[in-house]
Amino acid sequence: MGCIEEVTEILDLLYKHGWDERNGGNLSYILTEEEVKSVCDPTKVIKEFKYDDFDLSLAVGRYFIITGTGKYFKNCLKDPRNNLGIMKVSDAHTLQLLWGYEDGGRPTSEAPTHLQCHIERLKVDPSHRLVIHCHTTNIICMTHILPLDSDKFTEILWKMQTESIVVFPEGVAVLPWILCGGTEIGRQTAAKMSEYRSVIWAQHGIFCTGRSLDEVFGLIETIEKAAEIYMKICDKKIVQSISNENLIEIAEAFKIDYRHGIID
Ligand code: 13P
Ligand code: ZN
Repeated sequence: MGCIEEVTEILDLLYKHGWDERNGGNLSYILTEEEVKSVCDPTKVIKEFKYDDFDLSLAVGRYFIITGTGKYFKNCLKDPRNNLGIMKVSDAHTLQLLWGYEDGGRPTSEAPTHLQCHIERLKVDPSHRLVIHCHTTNIICMTHILPLDSDKFTEILWKMQTESIVVFPEGVAVLPWILCGGTEIGRQTAAKMSEYRSVIWAQHGIFCTGRSLDEVFGLIETIEKAAEIYMKICDKKIVQSISNENLIEIAEAFKIDYRHGIID
């Protein structure tokens, strides 16, 4: 399967889960030069997009496929050329469009967050490739009813189901409500990405990162599933649950290097 098919299949699945209503959510994925060559000529630049507020020098030379602003995940599978763009970072402040956005579109309004997160994750994981933002319903619910504390969210999500601590042992970071679509929310999100692959935006959604489409999709599914369980039981009488000792037992059995200071 080619990179366009792989990406649009995941966008379609995210839409079908109900996490990307209307134009909600965005995706950016690092492509190899070979992948780009299988779609277009990487030397033919269609147009340029400027980002003067932040520094892309650590990403110069990299290729990305990025969803367009205002575009619907619902439409990407059947119409990738209008909804997605392939770009090269040509200097510290410029993205060159090589393919896509055929109806005159431009990169997602969250490109400042995506690009700053890629740079931060590449510093800690050279195999990192992908950032997905989506509007996961139950995670958003949790940010309406709980204090916005990363350790508290992590503890709750770990204790909702046995697999949570295995899938996101580093936990989740939570940011307060901040105006979206700008460089500042991107800066604060990227700062968390030095320690976490997942950052929750209060009353908005989640940013998840990783090495592959499967890994990041699985991360979103698992976090959102834990949040769904929490929202289904949070106003019920709990008679038993996963204890700190149970979580430590899981971590030891699966040799999981989990974030310390939360359950121990
Ligand atoms: P875009 O349409 O610009 O990608 O924005 C959608 C979104 O989810 C904003 O946070
Ligand atoms: Zn959003």
